[in-house]
Amino acid sequence: MLEEAKDKWRRVQAGRNESLLVAVANLFYSTPKAPLVAEFVEADAAELVTKFGEDSFDTVVDSFGLCSFQDPVQVLMGLRKLCKPDGVILLLEHGVGRYTWMKDYQEKALVRHVTTWGCYFNRDIEDIVQKAGLKIESIKRHHFGTTYCVVASPNK
Ligand SMILES: C[S@@+](CC[C@H](N)C(=O)[O-])C[C@H]1O[C@@H](n2cnc3c(N)ncnc32)[C@H](O)[C@@H]1O
Repeated sequence: MLEEAKDKWRRVQAGRNESLLVAVANLFYSTPKAPLVAEFVEADAAELVTKFGEDSFDTVVDSFGLCSFQDPVQVLMGLRKLCKPDGVILLLEHGVGRYTWMKDYQEKALVRHVTTWGCYFNRDIEDIVQKAGLKIESIKRHHFGTTYCVVASPNK
């Protein structure tokens, strides 16, 4: 996974716009900040604060992680610690849809989806974000409400 991330990063540096990272940046900012410098670390997302310390980042981003973390609230609490008090936490996630028919579909397909992908795709993202203590500044939902773009402050 780390090699894949590094490879994606090289493609970003080469100006090839296929990276999810660029897609995430474009979702939140009309002009991604450049030049970007990266350090790659392989770690449990909940433990990153042990390496970097509290209040160490202006911006913390997670994409499609809350569906896969064993304890998404705990991880988000860790990411919250990483973020400076006046910083921002950006989340691009998928979770439970807005509509009953979509919720029903997600419920029915859950076991197969988890078994195949290790992904709980009907988690209540808004609830997770609130339980972790973050303050939601804005939230946009797409794809029948299943894709979430959240801008949050660490609220500390
Ligand atoms: C759906 S993938 C998303 C990957 C990537 N963030 C993206 O947007 O393409 C979820 C990833 O979370 C990783 N993961 C699960 N639990 C984790 C944890 N506690 N710490 C770090 N990564 C974790 C899984 O290994 C998997 O690669």
